[in-house]
Amino acid sequence: MADKDLVDLSWDEFDEARDPRPEENQFDQVVERAISRRGFLGGALAFGSGAAVFGSGLMSSTTAARAGGHGKFPFHPIGTATDAAVHVPEGYKSQVLVRWGDALWSEADGAYSPETGVSADMADKVFGENTDGMELFDVDGKEVIAVNSEYVNPKINLPAASEGVPQNADEVKLLKNLQGVTVMEVALGDAGYAVVKDSPLNRRITHETEMTIAGPLAGHALVQTKADPAGTVVKGTMNNCGSGRTLWNTYLTCEENFNGYFGATGDMPEGEGYKRYGIKGKGRYAYEQFDPRYDISNEPNEPHRHGFITEIDPSDPTSTPVKRTALGRFKHENAEMAQAKDGRIVVYMGDDERGEYLYRYVSNGIWTEGQDGGDLLNDGQLYVAKFNDDQTGEWLALTPETTGMDTAEILCFTRMAASAVGGTTMDRPEWVASNPVKVEAYCALTNNKNRGVKPNAGGDDTAVNAVNPRETNNYGQIVRWTPADENHAADSFAWDLYVMAGNPTIHSDAYAGSANVNEGNMFNSPDGMAFDSTGLLWIQTDGNYKNEGDFAGMGNNQMLVGDPESGEIVRFMTVPYGAEVTGLCWSLDRKVAFVGIQHPKGQWPDGNGKPRSSVVTVWREDGATIG
Ligand code: FEO
Ligand code: CA
Ligand code: CA
Ligand code: CA
Repeated sequence: MADKDLVDLSWDEFDEARDPRPEENQFDQVVERAISRRGFLGGALAFGSGAAVFGSGLMSSTTAARAGGHGKFPFHPIGTATDAAVHVPEGYKSQVLVRWGDALWSEADGAYSPETGVSADMADKVFGENTDGMELFDVDGKEVIAVNSEYVNPKINLPAASEGVPQNADEVKLLKNLQGVTVMEVALGDAGYAVVKDSPLNRRITHETEMTIAGPLAGHALVQTKADPAGTVVKGTMNNCGSGRTLWNTYLTCEENFNGYFGATGDMPEGEGYKRYGIKGKGRYAYEQFDPRYDISNEPNEPHRHGFITEIDPSDPTSTPVKRTALGRFKHENAEMAQAKDGRIVVYMGDDERGEYLYRYVSNGIWTEGQDGGDLLNDGQLYVAKFNDDQTGEWLALTPETTGMDTAEILCFTRMAASAVGGTTMDRPEWVASNPVKVEAYCALTNNKNRGVKPNAGGDDTAVNAVNPRETNNYGQIVRWTPADENHAADSFAWDLYVMAGNPTIHSDAYAGSANVNEGNMFNSPDGMAFDSTGLLWIQTDGNYKNEGDFAGMGNNQMLVGDPESGEIVRFMTVPYGAEVTGLCWSLDRKVAFVGIQHPKGQWPDGNGKPRSSVVTVWREDGATIG
């Protein structure tokens, strides 16, 4: 495959290219048997114990979900859209807050050109591309947003002749500096919220920002490089996807598809974990051709220094970000913090790849109000989730005894540790959200075309099970669990499926979705999730927006709101064709929501030049709170 084709792939397709399905294997025969059995039994077997899930009572479809504007939803749900615009309910407004290329400091005024984008010298002085996870902080009364720029689209940013593949070190620098994290002050003015240009709190964090490696892996041989023989200081964070926030008001940025940035210009080194983590001789962006740090024939351990949860203090632009290795290394989606009954810190984390796992970290120490809890993220226990078919589950500790690996190996090659203890392979765990008014948590399992079709990259079985109940799952589902004793540190839980997305206008079996999915609210591929202060669950999609075939009638990507109690789900927002909705936070007075719109197509939002990933604000015209 030519480089220029690699950059066109979605991350899911890139994973597949790294680990293609064999032409025919034993697994196919198992699937064949399952299919013929299901045909014979008329679908009952495909549901298996999943049928019990539907019977839980939380799946009951109600006509109320279609009517809207009552009950817990203070708005009239909207229909689908296929156009190049943002739509919100009647009585609400939205406008663009900041676009890729907008200046964070006056020196970058005019840095963005509709014809050429942004130059390499200005790339770390503007809002980055492809906005993702986002949190708002109160810094001495100022509102400060920390927000990820997940990746760059090389075909949008590089000269057309390059066909999306950097041709020199300057072009690599451009791409690197449009990624990472933006910290920016925002303020409400006469024309709505705006970025406070030149605020002393503004900051860009990129592939080049110096960071500390903390926790058990710090200084270990696995993270030592020629440039950092001590293994304690690393340059940059990359492919920052979802986010989290700590109880002590710092930002957690989550390094997801870091593997694609590495390649080998010479011999591929022998190394544990390259295969499981999707690292091969040719990188996705050709960085290894121009920057030796990304060349694993030169620095075989550099990939071991990425794929972590990284903590950033948004109140201090001079602070050094810290990679928290105790939380494990994988394709981190987000990091949802909760607190155990005894005060220990709990962090839930998904690993977004087909057939990978859901994790939990529990600190050894406890947190009390007013404490800087950073050290609590260096000393604790990591677990992987096991979902039993009877709707119970357990957190399996990843220890030297249970995995046969030492602590450093567990944290560097966490996927292999999870495989060793027999965690449940999942349908691409994306965001986890913990309910602020009830001890329960939700994880979006976005989709998994390989469910029941082939094992994960580590060879672990991905047969259909109760929590991932559909073979070739192109729609996704949201699982939720209630910890035993209402304690997030408990080692067992009960679970159910809050929703199985699907298309009831096309299918009448499991692919129609659960009973709380109907023609009026259907969607696919739940991804971002956040609870608002009232206990409603906001759900953002990153799915198929072609509006045809299995996805006919679903339209563009969307943001929905779910009521955990009734199971009702209604549509709040649709985004321009081609975009996904990603990142959600609220102003301190809860009157304005900030929503990320990633990878739009066409010329949104300017109507000319290039498509520009943006953050928009949404508010109620009557000035009421919205979350
Ligand atoms: Fe970057 Fe899994 O979404
Ligand atoms: Ca995501
Ligand atoms: Ca994305
Ligand atoms: Ca996604």
